[in-house]
Amino acid sequence: MKGIVFDEFNNMVEEAFGEDMLDDIIDENASNLATGGAYTSVGTYDHEELVMLVSSLSNATNIAIPDLVKTFGLHLAQVFSTKFSSFFDECTDTFSFLKRIDNHIHVEVYKLYPDAELPKFSFEEPDAQTLNLIYESKRGFADLAEGLIEGTAKYYKENVTIDKEDQSTELMHKVIFRLKK
Ligand code: HEM
Repeated sequence: MKGIVFDEFNNMVEEAFGEDMLDDIIDENASNLATGGAYTSVGTYDHEELVMLVSSLSNATNIAIPDLVKTFGLHLAQVFSTKFSSFFDECTDTFSFLKRIDNHIHVEVYKLYPDAELPKFSFEEPDAQTLNLIYESKRGFADLAEGLIEGTAKYYKENVTIDKEDQSTELMHKVIFRLKK
């Protein structure tokens, strides 16, 4: 997983829980973190390191892991909307943006970071008010996707409800997000 993701996770922890909390969770895991918790935005690190940091944060705050990961997704959406604003400017609403993740946004991300490990998103549009976004990945970051979806709707100032159906198997994480306007 790219360092930009770790950097932003650290920023979120610092903003929401303070610098001491960030130091604590890094210290607690330091022996298992390849660089001892010093990430560069273009570097690549094992995504399990993020899982360890989230798990420590969950223990320290008593907030469930899925809630923390989703909140991180909301944070990332906000960061991406300024750092990668052109993707957001190209679209006028949540659904058209989400439909472009797989065939445009993550394609460009991949050009920027050729070693990025990206999920697959396919979609169905049963009617004009509904978008079924299907997340598939070897990594289990569907809660991150949920936060990113919510953050995208917030960016476009739209009310979107999210229903989830987990169809994961041992080999693949698969979650269907049924979105309604
Ligand atoms: C401008 C918008 C976006 C940018 C620039 C972006 C960029 C990225 C980057 C840099 C990564 C990390 C890859 C790695 O570390 O190897 C990533 C992963 C990911 N992205 Fe995006 N992304 C965007 C929008 C979205 C949206 C809207 C969603 C959800 C609907 C999403 C879902 C994910 C997920 C779940 C991952 C984690 C990897 C996995 O689950 O396999 N992204 N994205």
